[in-house]
Amino acid sequence: MTIWTPSLEGRSGPTYRAIADAVADAIADGSLKPGDRLPTHRDLAWALGVTVATVTRAYQEARRRDLIDGEVGRGTFVRPPDTDENPSAVRRFHLPPLEEFSESGPINLSLNFPPLLGQEQAFAETLAEISRSNGLGQMLTYQHSLGVPEHRAAGARWLKRVGLTARPEQIAVTCGGQHAMETSISALCRPGDTVLTEPLTYPGMKALAGQWDIKLAPVACDGEGILPDALEDAIRQHAPRALYTMPTLQNPTSATMSEGRRRALAAIAERAEMFVIEDDVYGLMPQDRPPPLVSWLPRHGIYLTSSSKSMAPGLRLGWVCAPLAIIDRFQVALRASCWMAPPLMGEVARRWIDSGFADEIVGKLQQDVRVRWKMVEAILGDHVADNDRSSYHLWIRLPEHWRADAFADQLQRMGVIVMPAETFAVGKQRPTPAIRVCVGAMTTLRRTEEGLRIIARALREGPDHLIAAM
Ligand SMILES: Cc1ncc(COP(=O)(O)O)c(C=O)c1O
Repeated sequence: MTIWTPSLEGRSGPTYRAIADAVADAIADGSLKPGDRLPTHRDLAWALGVTVATVTRAYQEARRRDLIDGEVGRGTFVRPPDTDENPSAVRRFHLPPLEEFSESGPINLSLNFPPLLGQEQAFAETLAEISRSNGLGQMLTYQHSLGVPEHRAAGARWLKRVGLTARPEQIAVTCGGQHAMETSISALCRPGDTVLTEPLTYPGMKALAGQWDIKLAPVACDGEGILPDALEDAIRQHAPRALYTMPTLQNPTSATMSEGRRRALAAIAERAEMFVIEDDVYGLMPQDRPPPLVSWLPRHGIYLTSSSKSMAPGLRLGWVCAPLAIIDRFQVALRASCWMAPPLMGEVARRWIDSGFADEIVGKLQQDVRVRWKMVEAILGDHVADNDRSSYHLWIRLPEHWRADAFADQLQRMGVIVMPAETFAVGKQRPTPAIRVCVGAMTTLRRTEEGLRIIARALREGPDHLIAAM
């Protein structure tokens, strides 16, 4: 049994974070190994001369960073690394606590928030309008699980903005994009099925796969996305149930597939009778983009999007568009999860879509992202050369011999939170080192700029003993 006591000498910042950093360092340098037991809260507090509450907070922080696990009565242990054989690790959905979005705390560039550019005022006005309308009863009673007919019709009109023609009967209203993904998995897959993904995918899909016992298998990509040959190979090898993909402003890489690539992938999927779940939550950010991939998948294309990146994430509203022949499966899935999305939010979005306010927000976001990109390019230069300038998320590749998770840990110690490549990786291969940085989340540009300057400094200064791969 290892009785490990960290040294806090030379560590700055709050004591709880210094202890968590010491745990991270000890794991990185091998002095703590997977399965090692950490001292009890009381013993460590005594050894360090700090309060038990400080150690409790430090262990919480280390658990949040996925460094340790613990069970009441059994103790606290160093976690094994994430692997396919360790699905409990995959089940974790890595999210920094939201209180870290305060103006005084760390600069949190890890979550993809669009900024609020007038939505609060419009929300107040729309709620007031709704409260004065005759339709309040409808918001208080059960509705069709696929959504109120007017809200499904508004969803179909909204999807026209990305070039998708859909009938209202094809639309299911959900509680956001993550729920749209879960509804799709629930409607299409059974435990044990394989779903293909990009080798770096949205962590929400990794979390879902863990919950639903779905195997994720990566398909190789080039600069614009999934390679047709690799897709054919993966279909032969895995007999997958579906492909989950983000053809427009892929998360995390911000890559967008050309129309030619979309047509090629769709032809392969149709031939293989494989469903394709197209996640297009960022689809309205580029001013010019190819039609959705599902345009060429009349029988197997499932399109999903949400209000989160184009209106406001707190509305928790999403839309799925599925072939009519299988829309009933989505109805069953919705009933099994939440019965129906709250009609109040559907009504707010319907009014924003029909009044033109939703388009106005999208226009403002497109303008805002351009302003932020000027700052990004001035500070990060070549590091962001191959990113799409209409994206709030940036993908910064690190030199090959660096470790992204250690780099992200180091940035956290410097006061900036970002997501390392490991968070997005599917399969056993270690991802090439990179970090995702989101520039829409902090409320002030000044804080975002400060965060980018710290990242630029860390990139310039190069690896310290923590970052260099051993
Ligand atoms: C690609 C992708 N899909 C889905 C979601 C979930 O969005 P929502 O907030 O609508 O649940 C996100 C959120 O960041 C995302 O990046």
